Amino acid sequence: MFEYATCWIDGELVPAEKARISVFDHGFLYGDGIFEGVRFYNRKPFRLSRHLKRLGQSAAALRLTLPVSLAALEQAVTQTIAASALDDGYLRILVTRGVGALGINPDSCPKGSAIVIADKLNMISDEQRLQGARTLIAATRRSMPDRLDPRIKSLNYLNNILARMEANFAGVDEAILLNERGCVAEGSAENLFIVKNGELITPAVTEGALSGVTRGTTLELARELGLPAREGVLTPYDLYCADECILTGTGAKLIPVREVDGRPIPCPGPVYRQLAAAFSELVARETA
Ligand SMILES: Cc1ncc(COP(=O)(O)O)c(C=O)c1O
Repeated sequence: MFEYATCWIDGELVPAEKARISVFDHGFLYGDGIFEGVRFYNRKPFRLSRHLKRLGQSAAALRLTLPVSLAALEQAVTQTIAASALDDGYLRILVTRGVGALGINPDSCPKGSAIVIADKLNMISDEQRLQGARTLIAATRRSMPDRLDPRIKSLNYLNNILARMEANFAGVDEAILLNERGCVAEGSAENLFIVKNGELITPAVTEGALSGVTRGTTLELARELGLPAREGVLTPYDLYCADECILTGTGAKLIPVREVDGRPIPCPGPVYRQLAAAFSELVARETA
């Protein structure tokens, strides 16, 4: 299980089977903490500065004092990748509220913990990717920014998990979450784009989406390729009638969607193919 995992906890590399946090850490007790998922290729993290920036913003939003600076976390990532046996892999960077008294009061936690894990990520094959994902629209809703703002990448992922359970139970690959107004927010761990009449449209983050690094990269690539791209408001109808639908995320990269609630969507479409090729080229260039 831990064959490929390398862990760094609060300044020390720790053998994966011995990597522990306290049961009194509020990250464990209450989901009071934040995280990032980052891919590395050729031993170089892809767009790490954007992930660290988002981590800093999640911390600010939760008034969570980082136990180490973002620069020190960057060094921890370098150290963890250097200690890993993997050339390509996935990093999980976490910051927890830290050890405190029972009870949710964050002020009882004097210092948080910072953790970096490097490991393999079980990915879908290129063949499966091209077949596309079957999806459903989950009954579980994503909260709007006036509740728990989905831009905070917190350790509380239960509504995403409940949505993914709905997908698993129905035997499809992924769930799409709507916000409280019934408009499309995102996938359970990916952002979502549709293509309609040659235009690429993704829900605005204020519709209940994470400000995804891959989403941002996809928007940049679209502009470079001369594809019209914008944020917008999408309803289930827009998904059902889309010319293409694409999920984006660090783990997922770009995955075309072939079905939403039993409605077939052309897949893989020409825009997906263009963007996926451009994304691979960008990753190769930036991690050469
Ligand atoms: C809820 C959610 N939306 C979107 C994404 C995609 O974000 P990114 O491209 O930064 O990985 C993630 C990634 O973990 C996520 O958890």
